[in-house]
Amino acid sequence: MNYDRLKQPLVLVVFGITGDLSQRKLLPALYRLAENGDLPDQLHILGISRRSVSKDDVFAKLSTFVGEDYNETVAQRLKDSTMMRQVDLQDRQAYETLLADVHAIEAPLGKDINRLYYLSIPPQAFAGVVQLLGETGHNLSGADSDNLPRLLVEKPFGHDLASARELIQLLGEYFDESQVYRIDHYVAKETVQNMLVFRFQNPLFASIWNTRHIERITVTAYEKLDIEGRIATYEQTGALRDLIQSHLLQLLAIITMAKPVKLESKYIHDEKLKLLQMVQPIQPESVADAALRGQYEGYRDEVGNPSSTIETFARLQLAINGPDWQNVPIILQTGKALSERRTEIDVLFRQPPDMPGEQNRLVFRIQPHEGITLRLQTKQPGIKNATQAADMDFEYARSFTTRSAQAYERVIADAIRGDQTLFASNLEVIRSWEIIENVLKQWEQNGDSLRTYPKGSDGPVR
Ligand code: BG6
Repeated sequence: MNYDRLKQPLVLVVFGITGDLSQRKLLPALYRLAENGDLPDQLHILGISRRSVSKDDVFAKLSTFVGEDYNETVAQRLKDSTMMRQVDLQDRQAYETLLADVHAIEAPLGKDINRLYYLSIPPQAFAGVVQLLGETGHNLSGADSDNLPRLLVEKPFGHDLASARELIQLLGEYFDESQVYRIDHYVAKETVQNMLVFRFQNPLFASIWNTRHIERITVTAYEKLDIEGRIATYEQTGALRDLIQSHLLQLLAIITMAKPVKLESKYIHDEKLKLLQMVQPIQPESVADAALRGQYEGYRDEVGNPSSTIETFARLQLAINGPDWQNVPIILQTGKALSERRTEIDVLFRQPPDMPGEQNRLVFRIQPHEGITLRLQTKQPGIKNATQAADMDFEYARSFTTRSAQAYERVIADAIRGDQTLFASNLEVIRSWEIIENVLKQWEQNGDSLRTYPKGSDGPVR
């Protein structure tokens, strides 16, 4: 991994700097990178907003999102490196002026410049911005630089299969795939990274990672939070698009893919794609059995849409073709306003008939309490030969004193140093839409299958 690139001059153009994601995730991640000394001395942030906004306004909430150990000196460094620009996203001239600004900043910085465009903008603005960036030459490096600019893109990547294909084609007209970094921050979470190490560096598990030994895999992302006022976005999205199409299918690929030739971007993406291609898209006639959706009570009042059929909970049962995963149901489930916050991957092992008792299971705890639990049979202490299941626990907080990097720190650092391992490729995105396409269509056409559930419960029952 090329850590030296982190020290090269960085020009970061942030579209949507006042938006929720920038405020909650991007700026705090930059703050942490600055605090750890992982940002270059030559740091130039160009904050783009449609309204006229001051730098002070942009950084006003940073202390809240950073938390207790917020240090004004670190924040001031970021502020000092930031310039604001007001840009009408449809005005070509504004993009030309912006490019002239970028070139002026880059001129004295030498050849090894990293230029990144971070796009966190409403989906309806996305195609227009990409097109104007491309048409006005933001896709090319400046005269003195050797590095092509990179585009760091937030989801959603499309609204369905057709729109995803269109977006990918449009992006491809101006940007090479090597320039496009599609963020899936779940892949950058510490325990997810650890899954790669756990699976491919521990020979103990390699030979049992298949249908002969594994009975079921359940990927769960439950949240206590509701939609938190993201009414417009959520009414266009729903749980299936928001979490399953992106995060949970990526996790599924990582937990079931074959061993990559090397643990490097190209090989990891090859295996992830092969796996996703083996996941059977849910067929129209199976949607009723294989998919469940729910909406928490009060959602319709909250969004002011009495007939909304948008789901705040979704569960899919998938199957993977191919000899390794025959007869292993894969459950993906996610929901908002539930009784607990729990993101984990639960691998349940088969129980041979001659070994009664609770089944072995391996749980990757992604959040909270990041770690890995292996549940095994043990003998109860005492004179009887009674067995009892017990947990062998690995918890980051107990084993390491080093603070885990937040997913966005990793995302930004990797984009700066040009490593695409943790980003979703165009083919993975397309395949993920293909897998859920029939469910999306049926749910849109038929509101009958929607169940409601009380806030703070465990979700809908069938
Ligand atoms: C985002 C979704 O991608 O992930 C949100 O759009 C969700 O709806 C969020 O709340 C959860 O992220 P995390 O890292 O808090 O689990």
